[in-house]
Amino acid sequence: MTHGETARASLTIDPAFEIGEVHPRLFGSFVEHLGRCVHTGLHEPDHPTAREDGLRQDVLDLIGELGVTLVRYPGGNFVSGYRWEDGVGPVAERPRRLDPAWRSVETNEFGLNEFMRFTEVAGVEPMMALNLGTRGPMEARELLEYCNHPGGTAWSDLRRAHGHERPHGIGLWCLGNELDGPWQMGHKTAEEYGRVAAETARMMRMVDPGVRLVACGSSNSAMPTFAAWERTVLEHTYEHVDHISCHAYYEESDGDVDSFLASAQDMEHFIDSVVATCDHVRARLRSPKRLEVSFDEWNVWYRGLRDPATEPDWEVAPRLLEDNYTLTDAVVVGSLLVTLLRHCDRVTAACLAQLVNAIAPIMTEPGGPAWRQTTFFPFADAARHGRGRVLRVEPRSTRHDTAQYGEVDLLHATAVQQDEDTVAVFAVNRATDRPLQLTADVRATGSTRVVEHRVLADPDRHARNTLAEPERVRPRGVEGAAVDGGTLSAVLPPLSWNLLLLR
Ligand code: AHR
Repeated sequence: MTHGETARASLTIDPAFEIGEVHPRLFGSFVEHLGRCVHTGLHEPDHPTAREDGLRQDVLDLIGELGVTLVRYPGGNFVSGYRWEDGVGPVAERPRRLDPAWRSVETNEFGLNEFMRFTEVAGVEPMMALNLGTRGPMEARELLEYCNHPGGTAWSDLRRAHGHERPHGIGLWCLGNELDGPWQMGHKTAEEYGRVAAETARMMRMVDPGVRLVACGSSNSAMPTFAAWERTVLEHTYEHVDHISCHAYYEESDGDVDSFLASAQDMEHFIDSVVATCDHVRARLRSPKRLEVSFDEWNVWYRGLRDPATEPDWEVAPRLLEDNYTLTDAVVVGSLLVTLLRHCDRVTAACLAQLVNAIAPIMTEPGGPAWRQTTFFPFADAARHGRGRVLRVEPRSTRHDTAQYGEVDLLHATAVQQDEDTVAVFAVNRATDRPLQLTADVRATGSTRVVEHRVLADPDRHARNTLAEPERVRPRGVEGAAVDGGTLSAVLPPLSWNLLLLR
């Protein structure tokens, strides 16, 4: 495409062609003891909006608006050096510990039971990550007994003594975190990890057969061990687990915005490869079971800009990874959400990493306000309207060249049939310099009108929300989209995230 040419896109939306039902766990997030995610993020007992339990009400309100359904906890790299016992019991007696993962001091004033309280208040499902880096199956089993066993044993009675008479009933567990990564405490080979994960899974199911378990996949698709790691790990764990994880972070580097905007290409390839590896192991094992993917860390993260040498050492709740997202970053987040939805038949859990302050859609100031980053908006749209059946749309659009991914479509889109009457279309225009004229054949949906066209766009692609200007970037409703004779037409502004609701 040459500059100035009109960009066009078309697709067909037909309820007869379905990918699958969206699992509510697709709209998860992640709370790690990292920087100010927990302390002065979620939890700040002397904040003006703090509740009796120390949770910030202003943050809880934003989490509700964001529509998060599931929260992974307590890490992340942090979990591989963590003793969960440090975070339970009387707060005054809890030890302060070094957290080598983030070179911080952890006070442990917020731990397992405070997290469970948070999940109740926020109405989200917990996803508990185990330390399989520096600990093993026995400690995992004990933690499960503390959480899920009704009572009458030392661990379950300890929970009761801590004021939690009823079991927490945690249903979803991660068997460690990123153990393929040399940066991880307790880093392992695939053989080592596969064995320990399989034994942990077996022991956990002996205590609570109902738990769902996630084996660690690769930390990203560029890991040298990628795919071989999954194959070996699954050869050991396939019959004992329900999910394999994927993690991926994207950033704009060297000003190559077109490749950055096409980051979903990598995510698509990552998911497809992991699914193929699962199905390969399934075929070898002659197993009737089909594994699901838990994309339990994904986001934009400017790792390239991070300089650990300049970060504070051994502080409590230091300002770490407080990336301030631009409009461009939000459009990429939207496109990654489109990819997750398009794979909802196999990706049944996913966590935007993270929730507050550290690479997060919600920011806070200690003692001060909380506000929405640009990336908040596509997530909130998808979590609210991306419920139902994802339809197989095969968009065709003007294409352009990218340095990393070759030729890609300017349109990245999906459609979700919410109920008999409503179809939501999520669409990204990847062109930075021109609008995209979208037409869609919607005859089979019976839709006759566009009830809403919400757009996130800005003339300045670097625009952000900040403490000084927290409402600089916001979605707005636009006029002009219409259904006429079974054809939807809409203009998608340059570099934009779009939600179109058809009825
Ligand atoms: O989310 C930040 C970090 O990214 C997590 O601690 C780790 O699992 C990943 O590398």
